[in-house]
Amino acid sequence: MNLNDKNDQASTLRKITFNGKEGKIQNRVNSDPARVISVTSGKGGVGKTNVVSNLAYLFSELGKKVLVLDADMGLANLDIMLGLTPEYNLEHVLNGNKHISEIIVEGPGGMKIIPASSGVQELSELTHDQKLNLLSEFNSLTDSIDLLIIDTGAGISSNVMYFNLAAQEKFVVVTPEPTSITDAYAIMKVMSKKFSEKYFKLIVNEVRDETEARRVFDNLSSVAERFLDISIDFLGFIVHDKHVPKAVRNQKLVTVLYPEADCSLCFVKLAKNILQSQAAVVPGGNIGFFWNTLFETPE
Ligand SMILES: Nc1ncnc2c1ncn2[C@@H]1O[C@H](COP(=O)(O)OP(=O)(O)OP(=O)(O)O)[C@@H](O)[C@H]1O
Ligand SMILES: [Mg+2]
Repeated sequence: MNLNDKNDQASTLRKITFNGKEGKIQNRVNSDPARVISVTSGKGGVGKTNVVSNLAYLFSELGKKVLVLDADMGLANLDIMLGLTPEYNLEHVLNGNKHISEIIVEGPGGMKIIPASSGVQELSELTHDQKLNLLSEFNSLTDSIDLLIIDTGAGISSNVMYFNLAAQEKFVVVTPEPTSITDAYAIMKVMSKKFSEKYFKLIVNEVRDETEARRVFDNLSSVAERFLDISIDFLGFIVHDKHVPKAVRNQKLVTVLYPEADCSLCFVKLAKNILQSQAAVVPGGNIGFFWNTLFETPE
């Protein structure tokens, strides 16, 4: 995928075929379509990893098969947050030393995690052969996943864009801080202006209550809808809660350690909302589409 391509990129991506074989990877038959969700923010430190890991756990508890891709190539910290010490990571797959199945680790609730590696190169710098290798590695684990959740890094680097554009659902995490709101606006602006992405879902973190979350959502969505011509859904909110940093310090999920805490109750509500909300579906299968788009390699 060439990030410099212009407006019709997204619609083109939706028709992607890989090596001319449309729908090479099919979704599982007779089941709900798998969902591919990227969690992004613009500003760093707004709670993405916390949101990804707690949602992944709750989805697993609700009976879903969840795969989390730690795509924060800069400062991978999902494993640290979960108290895991993976021996291998994506870099070993990239170097051809390990298969993807050998690097996956299991987290709380049975969620599967693909650990990132600090300092892995930009996807745009991968060679054609490396992309092909990664694609076939990733395709091998497409079966039986209900949700693929991608924890992107902060900012609008090309890697973050790759993951966001390839995912069918884009969750934007924002806090009431003005810098977080302007950065969330900025990332949606880039995705809408450059890549014609029109739909986003907002999670408002670290709020006092629902009223504050709705105010943040109303302010951001009214400006974004007017100036960017995009549509933003309100997915839910997480209250600011001192149990979160406590859990982080213990390298445990707050929903595991303090299931009755206010923020954990918010997470449960959010997880149920997400499962009730409709998945965006692309022909040929969401997960296959995601990998193909991510590693699209012009002949
Ligand atoms: N709802 C909350 N209440 C209180 N503290 C929170 C909440 N959410 C996140 N935090 C705090 O913010 C810190 C940063 O969260 P997290 O690491 O999830 O952010 P991030 O967006 O993934 O950061 P990065 O951009 O660096 O990857 C956490 O260590 C946690 O202590
Ligand atoms: Mg993070």
